[in-house]
Amino acid sequence: MLPSVAVMLMLLSFTYGENPAIQVILTNKGLQQGVHEATGLIQEKLEKLTLPDISGRINILIGHVDYTLTGVTITKCDLPEPTVKFFQEHTGFTVSILGLSVALTGDWSTHFGLIHDGGSFDMAIFNLALTSAVELGRDAKGHLSVTSISCDAQIGDLGVKFYGGASKIFQPFVDYFKGHFIKRIKDRICPALEENIDMLESHLQAMNVSFDVDQVLTLDVPLTGSPIVTAASMKLGFKGEFYSIKTHEEPPFVAHPFILPEQPDYMLSVGLSEFTLNSALYGYFSAGELQVHINESMVPPKSPVHLNTSSMGMFVPQLPKQFPGLLMDLQVYARQAPTFSLQPGVVKLGVQAAVNAFAIEPNGTQIPLFILNVDTQFSGKVWTADEKLKGSVMMDNFTLTLVSSKVGTVRIDALENTVWAGMKLMILPEVNEKLGNGIILLRTKHAQLINSVLKMEKEFIAFFSDAQILQTEENFNK
Ligand SMILES: *[C@@H]1O[C@H](CO)[C@@H](O)[C@H](O)[C@H]1NC(C)=O
Ligand SMILES: *[C@@H]1O[C@H](CO)[C@@H](O)[C@H](O)[C@H]1NC(C)=O
Ligand SMILES: *[C@@H]1O[C@H](CO)[C@@H](O)[C@H](O)[C@H]1NC(C)=O
Ligand SMILES: *[C@@H]1O[C@H](CO)[C@@H](O)[C@H](O)[C@H]1NC(C)=O
Ligand SMILES: *[C@@H]1O[C@H](CO)[C@@H](O)[C@H](O)[C@H]1NC(C)=O
Repeated sequence: MLPSVAVMLMLLSFTYGENPAIQVILTNKGLQQGVHEATGLIQEKLEKLTLPDISGRINILIGHVDYTLTGVTITKCDLPEPTVKFFQEHTGFTVSILGLSVALTGDWSTHFGLIHDGGSFDMAIFNLALTSAVELGRDAKGHLSVTSISCDAQIGDLGVKFYGGASKIFQPFVDYFKGHFIKRIKDRICPALEENIDMLESHLQAMNVSFDVDQVLTLDVPLTGSPIVTAASMKLGFKGEFYSIKTHEEPPFVAHPFILPEQPDYMLSVGLSEFTLNSALYGYFSAGELQVHINESMVPPKSPVHLNTSSMGMFVPQLPKQFPGLLMDLQVYARQAPTFSLQPGVVKLGVQAAVNAFAIEPNGTQIPLFILNVDTQFSGKVWTADEKLKGSVMMDNFTLTLVSSKVGTVRIDALENTVWAGMKLMILPEVNEKLGNGIILLRTKHAQLINSVLKMEKEFIAFFSDAQILQTEENFNK
């Protein structure tokens, strides 16, 4: 038991100490926009809300009356825009709502000794003021945590009108008990709010901090440290590491620290370290996914070279003599995990691969012919335009080296020139056309990123954006 606890503590402290590879900054602009959108949604929700029963006991001269207010429903609510601020001292937020007025309706019943009575009522609460502060943190598993640290509720005034039963008799005395009602309602506001914050906290605790992105990769995104809150922004740092689901092998490199610049003019800034990209490549590599079989059916018909022993004779003179008239197969695989290297304005991708060439007998037997190493470097640009992410790629360097041959000389230079030309004339233009069309930036049913800017910096990608809530039919109906 003890050793496993020690190992766990070690793992935890290890996770805690690492550099965040994904950083997110919520600016004050983003906070205010979020609050504005949320106010509308909360107002809609409040207007259909049924509150818990309110019961109590009122002292009248001749004894106690027990009352219960049931089915208390909000009929109208003018929610003023709350003031929400980052709260540096407590790593959190303060929220205050002033001048909230609510109209309620419901049923009343009273017990006075053996006498039961009941009816309905309308109530109005005026000038409700609520101030609350919450603290944000990080739990041991890397979830965001939220705790209420203070709450205060005040009610300015209250009016109530009872109908039915003996209401005509006691209505004139209601003003006398107003203070009692105000206190009962006021005392329930902060506990109700705290209950909601606790609910939010348990949702956060239940959230996954790792997600399978496809069959091969899982992305780990626990928080690496507590949120950092200043008067102007909130910063979150996430681990941002991909793993192979199969091997869960740790790559032989670590995340370097980087400083994501604050851009108060955008709601949101996201920094993505090249570590995250490279961990994805490493994950694919360690899962054995970075390999392809190339056969004749994949060679474009208009290509001057085909994957058969006579066509390849121009590069390997022995081939057509030794193995006449056979189709060929290429087994291409990464020799090590490819790596991205991010520099201001440009992304470079280095790929070290090997090619095993085979001739295929009519009965399907593969005859090994030769092995080549292929070292390439691509460089690319990525930018945003028309709310899309676009890019272009170039091949900077392409080197072939002969590793071994069972079919004599391989004319490496001629082969290198031909493949290089093929890449430039056929493959890259097609890739660039696709990249040029772009992919639409994050857009869900409810929200969309707008005014987005993407910048390549040294060792990380910086992304600045505003978000827009889409007023769909569904949002209205919720
Ligand atoms: C969390 O992950 C588990 C296992 O990967 C999955 O079954 C579950 O649905 C996930 N939960 C959420 C809320 O995504
Ligand atoms: C090429 O490979 C694909 C799948 O790997 C296969 O379906 C196809 O029959 C092969 N074509 C030739 C000509 O061997
Ligand atoms: C080999 O490719 C050449 C084109 O380069 C083609 O003319 C020839 O028919 C092919 N031979 C076989 C056996 O497929
Ligand atoms: C396939 O054919 C070759 C030559 O035609 C022969 O040497 C080899 O034994 C055959 N392999 C199988 C599995 O039949
Ligand atoms: C291309 O690769 C070769 C061999 O790896 C290297 O010596 C050369 O510097 C590279 N050239 C460029 C422009 O990167």
